[in-house]
Amino acid sequence: MKPKRSIFYFFAFCFIGLCEAGPRINCYPEPSANQNLCESRGCIWGPTQDTSDGTPWCYFKDGVGYNLASQNGSTYNLRKNNGPKNPWGEDFQNIQIRTSTIGSVLNVKIGLDGRYEPPVDFPRATLASSETLSFTTASSDDLFWFSVIRNSTNRKIFDTSLGGLIFSDQFLQLSTYLPSENMYGWGENAHQSLKHNFSRYLTWGMLARDQPPNSLNLDTMNLYGVHPFYMCLEPDGNAHGVFIFNSNPQEVTTAPGPSLIYRTIGGNLDIYFFPGPTPALVTQQYLEFIGKPFLPAYWALGYQLSRYGYSGLDEMKQRVGAVRDAGIPLDIAVSDIDYMNRYKDFSTNDKWSGFEDYVNQMHGWNMKLIPIFDPAVEADYLPFQRAQSFGAKFIEWETYSQVQTDIQKLYPMANKTKIMLGVVWPDNHVAFPDFLDSTGRTQAWWRTELELYHSKLTFDGIWIDMNEPANFGTNEQHPWYFDSADHPDDAPLFCPTNGSNRWDLPPYQTHAVYYYGGNQNNAYLSSKTLCLAGVQNNGSYRFYDTKNLYGLTEAISTQQALLDVTGKRGAVVSRSTFPSAGRYAGHWLGDNTARWEDLRTSVIGAQEFNLFGIPYVGSDVCGFLGTSNEELCLRWQQMGAFHSFFRNHNTLREPAQDPAVWPSVAAATKTANLFRYQYLPYLFSLHFQASQSGLTVVRPVLFEYPSDSATFDLGYQFMWGSNIMVAPVVYQGAVTTNLYLPNDVWYSLFNYMYGSRIDPGYITVPSPTTSRIPVFVRGGSAIPRQTPTTTTTMSRFNPFELLIAPCQLGKAVGVLYWDDGQRIVDSFDTHDYHQFDFNFVSTSSDAQLTITRTRKGSVTLPTLDIIEIFNYPSPPNFRSFLLNGKSVNVNVQSSTYSGITKTLYISTQFLIDLTSADVITLSWSNVAK
Ligand code: NOJ
Repeated sequence: MKPKRSIFYFFAFCFIGLCEAGPRINCYPEPSANQNLCESRGCIWGPTQDTSDGTPWCYFKDGVGYNLASQNGSTYNLRKNNGPKNPWGEDFQNIQIRTSTIGSVLNVKIGLDGRYEPPVDFPRATLASSETLSFTTASSDDLFWFSVIRNSTNRKIFDTSLGGLIFSDQFLQLSTYLPSENMYGWGENAHQSLKHNFSRYLTWGMLARDQPPNSLNLDTMNLYGVHPFYMCLEPDGNAHGVFIFNSNPQEVTTAPGPSLIYRTIGGNLDIYFFPGPTPALVTQQYLEFIGKPFLPAYWALGYQLSRYGYSGLDEMKQRVGAVRDAGIPLDIAVSDIDYMNRYKDFSTNDKWSGFEDYVNQMHGWNMKLIPIFDPAVEADYLPFQRAQSFGAKFIEWETYSQVQTDIQKLYPMANKTKIMLGVVWPDNHVAFPDFLDSTGRTQAWWRTELELYHSKLTFDGIWIDMNEPANFGTNEQHPWYFDSADHPDDAPLFCPTNGSNRWDLPPYQTHAVYYYGGNQNNAYLSSKTLCLAGVQNNGSYRFYDTKNLYGLTEAISTQQALLDVTGKRGAVVSRSTFPSAGRYAGHWLGDNTARWEDLRTSVIGAQEFNLFGIPYVGSDVCGFLGTSNEELCLRWQQMGAFHSFFRNHNTLREPAQDPAVWPSVAAATKTANLFRYQYLPYLFSLHFQASQSGLTVVRPVLFEYPSDSATFDLGYQFMWGSNIMVAPVVYQGAVTTNLYLPNDVWYSLFNYMYGSRIDPGYITVPSPTTSRIPVFVRGGSAIPRQTPTTTTTMSRFNPFELLIAPCQLGKAVGVLYWDDGQRIVDSFDTHDYHQFDFNFVSTSSDAQLTITRTRKGSVTLPTLDIIEIFNYPSPPNFRSFLLNGKSVNVNVQSSTYSGITKTLYISTQFLIDLTSADVITLSWSNVAK
């Protein structure tokens, strides 16, 4: 049997000028392919007229792959076939595919025993699912291929009949057709659309690198983290997810077909298929498997003010003061490396004397401090000395002969060690802690340093940066810091580049090198980082394999240290991430630029990181690089107010861009933040659900409407959970916003027609800078809120409110999770928290709200004093209110009903004590007609 390629594919490819039976698998992804080089690899040279779609000109002949030698149950023994050979190393003659199921998850592992496996400890738990997947194989003409099928619909969700399976020591490739073009995910990259584009060939790099995103135009470069995960919506609206558990440098090509070509340069092809069938279930299944996100402290959902380049503590005080004076809700001051003494971790410089007093003062205002810590420590000061006495490990050279002795001998404490010294912000060379140290000594030392520093500066959360890990000037004769007045000319790190270094110069170097022009432009895998020939954990891991795990492993140690040292859950944010990092930390989207394009990509990026299990995510509000401006900053503040991690951050030497700089931005930020703070009980409850059940917080609209194709690429809109739709203003000069509301009941929550029903469809609404950005609540929702004030801590003392947005039938449901906001969550089974379910029903003559306490905590909470109900049909009889069957006085002075807007507003001090009973009912009747 020949691999079946549908007639559709044939015509599709004819249409784009190829007239081939399938997409091309690139045989020369490196730069500068030409006919000679291509044909010397035994590949086909086929220039195309139209170069705009990225069709590779050099491509593999058919038949690349393996044949089936034997099968033993769910193990398939494959043998290299007689088809084309791999240009990047010896093909393994024999490999295995092993398939297994873990609950509803199907694992297909292509590889060989004894090869590197990423040392990441996933829970590997599963959720029951109605859906099952099966693995089927086929072969013809010496070529074996497999498919993954959704049993309920018989649809192939993964179909490797495209061929192209390659397995050698340092080059692995797998290709597949996809069931639809509606695919989301892969990271970390700056995506300009939520949905991938399969009308052309695009290769996306995946290697953790200190690389600011470029959002100005389509750019496929690899950024700070690595997430080999995607979700695909099948043509009938079912969704599935695919995770490739591999931590080596890697890349994926999205190609017509639609198809994917995945390449990695180590490990195995260890693939997990999650059956869904809804997008929400895909994420839940994925996060059960890799680990669900940590629950941030309540205060961590507050607004954060940051900048790089404060001249000293006085400037921080001044800017924090200005924001507070403007009445803008603010919870967190963030201190960048400026506070350190010559950028050394665990030190404070003279311009920051009095910092601890100020932190105490801020604590008195119910504010918190998040300082930055970089992983690398200078090789000549006390923390490094202590590290050695702890027996802590650092990333090392494999052998003494590789050590750059001219550098090493400058540091008596590092001399005679194999520690790989590099250069980051501090004046002298630095060493990179090895968080994979299996003795635990490195982690114990790291914790001790944080503890010692905490005894001097009582920080509340931790920001970990530069953990790709970033190293300055690797392999460069003249690194940028040679021209910096603020950095000595330390000798840069050079990685051995003679032919024998198969780690730094592997046969195939991936998009992370080729995209930057290959070695002609001095791009290496080690660019901006350490040498991949390095080792970790006493030589048991090769940095070539584990580099992409550096941020994750640092986050694990840092979160543990924060919990130990503060005794509270706080929050850690990390620049570099890998699957499961969300268990330990949040993420910000890195060094964006103050441009409208960057505002737009950050709306998409935050949705993607929710898919990756890192819902505590946001961007540098107002833009990090470049000079921000009033309108952009205002719009970014308004949008960022809906991201869980909400921080205004700016780079060195750029003018201040905190919201107090411009009166208009201050006013808009105050409005946006007050709205956010009012809805924090809802946002916090979403995080609770994310931590408990793997649900997303900032959610692509398609998650809620997977059968409405108009939602499939709605990247610039997003939802807060299932109930609130946000349509930020992301274009310069816009005073109206075009948006799409799926077919449902919607009410406005912003200035335009507040509380009124808004018809679904494509609509245009006013969005002047002076109003809230368009935000809507979905019918059927009961949303807990709280009267806001300028800190989350104080807001928590204010009365609760309930917003009821009924569906067509006059009903609404919702939930509130509540704990003390800071206690460490060991397990939700034992955690002290409340859960209340709200259930509202109404008819034309009466209404009833039932509040069921489904989990009883010990934390005291404010009373529910305000209930705001939209689309309430007729005036209530305020004297008819019964609380648990007994008459209750409703304050008629502060309660209102408008027959015009149909909004009922019930406001009475101490109306409902949520903890007074397990089931509470509030009922009333309407004025008889
Ligand atoms: C790079 C980070 O991405 C940025 O946010 C920070 O301000 C600088 N490092 C300085 O620490």
